[in-house]
Amino acid sequence: MTVPQDLRSPKPMLRSLSGEIVARPPLWLMRQAGRYLPEYRGVRAQVASFLDLCYTPDLAVEVTLQPIRRYALDAAIIFSDILVMPDALGQPVAFREGEGPVLEPVRSAADVARLRPEGIHDKLAPVYETVRRLSRALPSEVALIGFAGAPWTVATYMVEGGTSRSFHNIQLWAYRDPAGFARLIDCLVEATIAYLSAQVAAGVEIVQLFDSWAGVLPEPGFKRWVIEPTRQIVASLRRQYPGLPIIGFPRGAGLLYPSYFVGSGVTAVGLDTTVPLDVARGVIQKIGPVQGNLDPLLVVAGGEAMAAATREIVGALAKGPFVFNLGHGIVPETPPEHVEQLVALVREG
Ligand code: CP3
Repeated sequence: MTVPQDLRSPKPMLRSLSGEIVARPPLWLMRQAGRYLPEYRGVRAQVASFLDLCYTPDLAVEVTLQPIRRYALDAAIIFSDILVMPDALGQPVAFREGEGPVLEPVRSAADVARLRPEGIHDKLAPVYETVRRLSRALPSEVALIGFAGAPWTVATYMVEGGTSRSFHNIQLWAYRDPAGFARLIDCLVEATIAYLSAQVAAGVEIVQLFDSWAGVLPEPGFKRWVIEPTRQIVASLRRQYPGLPIIGFPRGAGLLYPSYFVGSGVTAVGLDTTVPLDVARGVIQKIGPVQGNLDPLLVVAGGEAMAAATREIVGALAKGPFVFNLGHGIVPETPPEHVEQLVALVREG
């Protein structure tokens, strides 16, 4: 696609997401701010709970900028969590050391009726303040990404009461009482639209929807609880902000990636580590821009294994619209110097 020079956004991220082929692909890394960085652990130690960090703009701005100071990344992602949503809806979330998130489960229409989608902005106002400050603080070539969990994935935590292995409670609810379960998903669609719209109004330039547990659903459920709610969110954001790039990350979607891309209407899809590069290039990138998909464990391993896989991904996907990223978030045991080497590999080719 040729775009007149003077109409081009100077930000490589926005160019790739608009369908341009950028010679040196832009990159950012999911979970680029976090425990693998010693300076993150320093800030984290100043607050009692993880959610306090998300709700304190001074600290959230600081930890968002930490990876930007260290590495030549093309985007910053606001520091928050997908689980601020249940917390803001009136289902308190606690992060316990070594245990992950803990919530009092929502399992019936009566539980859903107690959630307050109209009240979310009270709790989430500090996130919008973080966005306003970041949009002033970032270097001019770095794009600002906002995000939310997609309804299905956020619902898994709300119904299971935390991280799950089996997802039995949520799947059985959806099978036994689809109309009741739909009220929870509809509530999350409405709240997510309001949340992401407020992030865009405050200054984010791109949004990503994390659907980390999309892959646990058989096809009919995937269409109803992953694609359809995402389509509604995308349609509403597009009505309000027509040019907004929206990245969908339906982790584990497998053979359903193309249906997700077309059916949801997202601008680009994030590919997980299992998507083969020939499928990514020959099928998914024919639909639109793709982002991904280096295995985060290769950044722990480093060395030639990381370098070879990175060259393969860039070789296969940089001939089309592409954003380099991992196939899932950075893990805490990642050596920061390996991230530096990875960024150099992608930037220098
Ligand atoms: O740099 C960034 O990417 C921005 C911040 C960010 C966090 N979480 C910070 C965080 C983002 C984008 C997320 C997304 C998120 N959160 C997802 C989707 C992506 C994925 O990994 O699949 C999910 C499923 C969550 C839910 C979540 N948050 C869990 C299950 C946990 C506990 C397990 C863990 O990794 O600790 C969190 C906590 C969390 N979110 C931390 C960070 C930095 C660690 C908490 C701490 O510092 O004590």
